[in-house]
Order: sequence, then C-alpha cells, then structure tokens
Amino acid sequence: MPLLSTFATATGATLAASAFLLRRKISKNWVSLQKDTTLLEDQTIIITGGNVGLGYETAKDLSKRNAKSVIIACRNIEKGNEAVSSIQKATGMKNVKYMKLDLSSLDSVRAFLKKIEEEVPKVNVLICNAGVWIPEDANTEKTKDGYEMHFGVNHLAHYLLATSLKPKLEASGNGRIIFVSSSLMKSGQINFESKDFIYDGRKKDEESKSNFGPPPAYCDTKLMNAMTCRHLSKVLPSTVSTYSVCPGFCRSSLGRSVKTSFLQKALVAPIMLLIQRTALQGAQNILYATITPKEKLESGMLYKDGKLETDCNDYVDSIGEDMAKKLCELSDELLKPNE
Ligand SMILES: NC(=O)c1ccc[n+]([C@@H]2O[C@H](COP(=O)([O-])OP(=O)(O)OC[C@H]3O[C@@H](n4cnc5c(N)ncnc54)[C@H](OP(=O)(O)O)[C@@H]3O)[C@@H](O)[C@H]2O)c1
Repeated sequence: MPLLSTFATATGATLAASAFLLRRKISKNWVSLQKDTTLLEDQTIIITGGNVGLGYETAKDLSKRNAKSVIIACRNIEKGNEAVSSIQKATGMKNVKYMKLDLSSLDSVRAFLKKIEEEVPKVNVLICNAGVWIPEDANTEKTKDGYEMHFGVNHLAHYLLATSLKPKLEASGNGRIIFVSSSLMKSGQINFESKDFIYDGRKKDEESKSNFGPPPAYCDTKLMNAMTCRHLSKVLPSTVSTYSVCPGFCRSSLGRSVKTSFLQKALVAPIMLLIQRTALQGAQNILYATITPKEKLESGMLYKDGKLETDCNDYVDSIGEDMAKKLCELSDELLKPNE
C-alpha cells in the first residue's frame, strides 16, 4: 500500500511538473507589457465592451497608466458601474468612467456619439473590443435594426463609431483605432454577390454542424474588422492610424452561449489550462497596439504577440483592397439615415 501511494504521488508530481513546463513553453512568446512603464497622460481612450474579459483588463491597465480618461462603453449600466468601481478599487485612480453603448442598436450608437460630441473634446484611442460569438438565443439573433447579430455588433456598429469619431481622433493630433480581430479571420469569407452576411450570416455546413468549431459568421466579421482597419488606414488623415490585433485564444465569457455538457467540459479542461491565455494575458495584445510608439507599427496591419501576424495580413492582401473598399462603401450605404 505505501508503495502504491508513493507511486501515485510520484506520478502526480511528474504530471504536474510536465504540465507546468509545457505551459511555460507554450506561453514563452506571448507578448507582455506588464513591466512596461509607459504613461498615457493626457490621453482619452474609449473601449467598447470594457466591463468584462479582455476589455476590462485593458481598461484597468490603461487607467493605471494615468490616462486622462478611460471610457468603458458597454450596454449594461450595472455591469458598467461595477467595472468602474472595481478598477477604481484596484488602481486607486479616478480616471475611468462608464458610458452607455449598446452595439446592437444603431440608435444607441448614435446617442453615444452625440454624448461624446458634447462632452469629450478629443479622442486619442478608440478600441473596438466588444464582440459576440453566437447570440444568446433566438431573440438576439438580429440587432434592433434587423442585421445579423455578429455583423451588426462586431462590424457595423464599430464601423459607425470609427468613422464618426474621425474628427475627435484627428483633434488629438495622434489618434489611433484598434480593432480586436482574431486569427479566425482566416476562415472568414465575404460573398458580395448574395450579401447574406448582412441579414442572415453565413451558416455552418449541415455535415459540420456541431458545438465545436467557430461560427462562420463570427469568422466573417473578424475578417471585416481587419479589412476595415486596412481600408481606413488608407483613407483617414495621416495623423490617425489603425491597427488590428489577435489577442490569442483566451479564457473569457465570449463562448457563454455555447452549449456543452459537463463531460465535454471536463474532457477539454486540462487542454484549455495548457493552451488558453487568461484575459489579462490576452489583453496584452490590445495594449501593445495602444501604447507602442507609432514609428514601430505599420498602420492598417494586424499584430499578435508584438509582431505582424503574417498569415492574417497575407489573407487580407489576398482578398484585395477593392473588396475592403467595397465593404466600407456597403457599410456607409447601410448607415445612411432613412429619408
Ligand atoms: N476570448 C478569445 O479567445 C478571443 C480570441 C480572439 C478574439 N477575441 C475578441 O476579443 C474581444 C473581447 O472578447 P472577450 O474574449 O473579452 O469576450 P467577453 O468576455 O464575452 O467580452 C465581450 C464584451 O463585448 C460586449 N458586448 C457584446 N455584445 C454587445 C453589445 N450589443 N453592445 C455592447 N457591448 C457588447 C460584452 O458585454 P456584456 O458583458 O454586456 O455581454 C462584453 O463586454 C471580442 O471582440 C472577441 O471577438 C477573443
């Protein structure tokens, strides 16, 4: 018996040590700015969906860097205020505030923009971070304006914010827009012939319908983020730069609507512990694009772990600037006020 227990203990310790070393190897090249001391004094930063996950960790870090104002733009007043007080408690700073923004309603986006117009003289950084991965239920498959939810929230509302905030970003003399995209954009497609991505979203093939694997409409909108970033870098004034980032595969509430059984969760948990980043680790990629001096970055490009993400950027290249322009023109058309 003592022999058996010694064996079990030794096996457990070996497994734990191997897992620790493997995790260290996997995370070796992940970007981290936690020791970086750059300050963002005088900067006003808006971050969508800053109440949880990567957005929350980013907002907390920006607040610590003494930004003039960090505006958490999110849809739920309680969650927004909770995030603000939790950041204030953690940092001791009073530079963070909540403003209401529901990206699934263009009226809400326009009301938010009106408030910014009235109250905020300049915006240094807009971080388009909020995102949806499979709407929660049938009632949330479409936005209030009738668009497919991934398209409406991940792309169209952020496009409206980015283009409308141009004068405020220009007023800062050194503006930047950051799109939180994903390497999954490489599975994205945009069919301008059928345009079904606008109202219905691309669906999974019948044969591959399972809980696992990314929703095509999510991948498509993450591609739209990177294409918008690329196109805006060409048409915005030169003082306003645009970057997109992939934060890596992170632990967050993004997959909250995915139905998985207890058994499925238990089976994948050890792998997740090995490969998934924490929200704080994922946020480092957003921070990288926010605080790295512009001379070291290339406007319009997608970054991951402190480097240009070649495969993603090549994919945007292969689709072509014409398509990126077409997407932005289509978005402008959809956003035209009804006569
Ligand atoms: N986690 C990953 O592995 C991963 C990988 C690649 C890219 N990303 C991207 O990273 C970004 C942040 O995601 P996350 O992982 O931090 O997920 P998360 O924890 O679920 O955060 C998503 C945020 O988006 C907000 N949001 C959703 N719908 C909204 C709406 N209609 N109006 C306003 N805000 C809305 C959520 O607000 P509520 O709290 O009110 O729902 C929440 O604040 C997303 O763009 C995602 O696509 C994540």
